[in-house]
Amino acid sequence: MRFHIHTFGCQMNAGDSRWLARALRARGWEEVESDQAAAHVINTCSVRAKPEEKVASLAGRLAPVVRRNDPERGFVAVGGCVAQQKGAWFLERFPHVRLVFGADGLAGAPGAMQRVADDPAERLSLLDFADGFLSRPAYWEGERVPPQAFVTIMQGCDNYCAYCIVPYVRGRQKSRPSAEILAECRELAAKGAREITLLGQNVNAYGLDPEGDGTGFAGLLRAVTAIPGVDRLRFTTSHPKDLSDEVVAAFGELNNLAPNLHLPMQAGSDRVLRRMGRRYDTARYLSLVEGLRAARPDITLSTDLIVGFPGETEEEFQQTLDLVAHVGFESSFSFKYNDRPGVAAERMEGKVPEEIKADRLARLQALQDELTEASYAARVGAEADVLFEGASRKPDPDGGVSWMGRDPWGRVVNMPSENGTDLTGSIARVTIIEAKKHSLSAKPAGSPW
Ligand code: SAH
Ligand code: SF4
Ligand code: F3S
Repeated sequence: MRFHIHTFGCQMNAGDSRWLARALRARGWEEVESDQAAAHVINTCSVRAKPEEKVASLAGRLAPVVRRNDPERGFVAVGGCVAQQKGAWFLERFPHVRLVFGADGLAGAPGAMQRVADDPAERLSLLDFADGFLSRPAYWEGERVPPQAFVTIMQGCDNYCAYCIVPYVRGRQKSRPSAEILAECRELAAKGAREITLLGQNVNAYGLDPEGDGTGFAGLLRAVTAIPGVDRLRFTTSHPKDLSDEVVAAFGELNNLAPNLHLPMQAGSDRVLRRMGRRYDTARYLSLVEGLRAARPDITLSTDLIVGFPGETEEEFQQTLDLVAHVGFESSFSFKYNDRPGVAAERMEGKVPEEIKADRLARLQALQDELTEASYAARVGAEADVLFEGASRKPDPDGGVSWMGRDPWGRVVNMPSENGTDLTGSIARVTIIEAKKHSLSAKPAGSPW
């Protein structure tokens, strides 16, 4: 069966899609471009406005593709966070949508896709939440392991931040057994992965749920960094309220823990943070930043920010601008607050008008652009070890092949190779020669060009 996966949303969704692709390939299915595929998976995200309309429109556009490629067995499966909420609606609305699956339905999705392909009358729905972490084979056998791999360490989230839909669509937090995580990391390293990113909605709380097996997040970091072949370890996403002193200290102790942390701040006003239910204040956030910089002076920080949370005043927004400048984030993702169905903030007073939200977002992004530009410009002339992940998306201006990698701080670095040699999977010492808006250009360290 020829399949294609359309992925939206966060790193966890991207990780789930990669797992599903491996599971299907292990059954002999073939991954192809969308227009060639008879079986389509739409892996959806509901964190921002009107996702079901976007998904419905894509599902509609895929109907003729399915009909053309395999009218008998072809189908569309809708999975992920929008499916968790609206699964039945998709099944009712589209005859060619023959499978819907939610967060905990993923483990059963490969088998369900097989059944749906084998029986054109079959339509299935996998929307129940499971009690524990659902173990599933990693399916790395026979796969080419990427130099930079992702490993899921937990599912769900228990935080219920006032604006966020994730706990409703991903279920409660469930930690994956540490033995399973370490086995997958060892297998990846043995097969050539050099960098691993641990994934979860709130990795700092790893092991703190009833599924925990006694290993805390700091212990997990120590165990993964000790695996031979793991040159770099990253993790995402961190919640400031659960970032422990031990994990902060780890940045100074474990030299293969990459000097880079994504630490969502959301807002620079204590009143807004309280109303968001984030359970930290700006003083706590700043003391974490101080501790991280004391442990690892060169650490780069990135963050998530929301503008126009209900009741946010101009003054409170200014506090976000001030704090962003003060911390000096290397990069950030910023969003206009939007109502999600059923979350606490939906019922709050003082909704901020769209124009004001748009204006605040533009001002915040202009500030971030300045910070990013200054930080990237300061890299010109410096050397760095870059792990190359594959060919650059943009061709080299001189007509040669250019390779894309990342420095230890997570910045994208592009470099052509001599005679077009494939640099994928190698770590090379480079000199930065130019700063672009969101990337750096380099040459091999010590080379004359
Ligand atoms: N688990 C992660 C992030 C999950 S969602 C964390 O806690 O940091 C990714 C980002 O989307 C959030 O950090 C937040 O900035 C943004 N976001 C979530 N819900 C939102 C909403 N209703 N409106 C605007 N932005 C939102
Ligand atoms: Fe959403 Fe908060 Fe959980 Fe992050 S920690 S996923 S923002 S509820
Ligand atoms: Fe979106 Fe679900 Fe991730 S709502 S951000 S895909 S957890």
